[in-house]
Amino acid sequence: MSAQDQIFIFDTTLRDGEQSPGASMTLEEKLQVAEILDDMGVDIIEAGFPIASNGDFEAVSEIAKRTKRSVIAGLARAIHADIDRAGEAVRHAERGRIHTFVSTSPIHLEHQMKKTEAQVLDIITDTVGRARNLIDDVEWSAMDATRTPIEYLCRCVEAAIRAGATTINLPDTVGYATPDEYKSMFEQIRARVPDADKAIFSVHCHNDLGLAVANSLAGVAGGARQIECTINGLGERAGNAALEEIVMAIRTRSDVLPYSCSVEPRYLTRASKLVSAVSGFPVQFNKAIVGKNAFAHESGIHQDGMLKNAETYEIMRPEDVGVKATSLVMGKHSGRHAFRQKLEELGYEIGDNAFEDAFRRFKDLADRKKHVYDEDIEALVENEIATQGE
Ligand code: KIV
Ligand code: ZN
Repeated sequence: MSAQDQIFIFDTTLRDGEQSPGASMTLEEKLQVAEILDDMGVDIIEAGFPIASNGDFEAVSEIAKRTKRSVIAGLARAIHADIDRAGEAVRHAERGRIHTFVSTSPIHLEHQMKKTEAQVLDIITDTVGRARNLIDDVEWSAMDATRTPIEYLCRCVEAAIRAGATTINLPDTVGYATPDEYKSMFEQIRARVPDADKAIFSVHCHNDLGLAVANSLAGVAGGARQIECTINGLGERAGNAALEEIVMAIRTRSDVLPYSCSVEPRYLTRASKLVSAVSGFPVQFNKAIVGKNAFAHESGIHQDGMLKNAETYEIMRPEDVGVKATSLVMGKHSGRHAFRQKLEELGYEIGDNAFEDAFRRFKDLADRKKHVYDEDIEALVENEIATQGE
């Protein structure tokens, strides 16, 4: 695999993720999250938005001081004070980055920024240049890139690269793009902008239409080599692309996604639990990779298949993402094979007639009860044994 097939994972749980209403974290919590991100091999950690508050500044600079491996990025609007503050916050990082952004779409320029296209081009040259005077690693983002006319977006990207940006991020800020459109945007920009090969292109996708992960992978197919994402898909509104889904898609489908990334997946479950605990955002049961049910099977047909060969119904091994084992949940859809296995696990060996009686009573119970616990099955079997002895 060639060097250019390496995908850099940029985690923004502590910045975009923390922007989810109600998800704010304390300094101590942010340090814990940064530590696990660094341990798991995330390439870039966006640790916060230093100008936003003294607390954010302190968090970014503390994470910058303590982190040994990952690049630490601080976010800055296209304003001198923001850029200087971000530069100050990442100053002590082994490897620091200033990430500055400005809106480029007509709707943002007219209603939010009240600036012309020409003014925004000047702002890009000025602010990226300022950041580049402070640090070598500068990322520039075109906010609302996916609703920006391609000709103008090309001129903005060209200005940012000329001013010294080393990473160019083209976000789908409002989660509006489809995979084909997003891929095509990267292809066109990379083909049309002079010196496009001097920068690494980055995807940053919001999940308003549930397309964030698909769009991120489409952007990579279009030539992007950095993916911005968050643990559990935390982020503004419907959130960002989920890091765990991106990493496992790349690992599981290497046949059609020929890239490598340095994240070690066995940390994923632990990171998910930590982020859920500190943000107060529960993880939905059926969430891909890290949901409680991601490796649980209830249907009799699936349980039977799993007991014969796990690959019948699992495309990933639970232990690869830090889950101890597959769970076969006993419920009304379970069949004889799983019930027999459960009895063995619980230490029971009963004859065929007793087994059939116990199985019938288990099914009756499962019809009445949402959760059938091991204790319920034990009681049922004990009762069966006692009745047989009468
Ligand atoms: O969604 C977005 O456009 C952002 C930028 C600040 C990168 O989060
Ligand atoms: Zn965002």
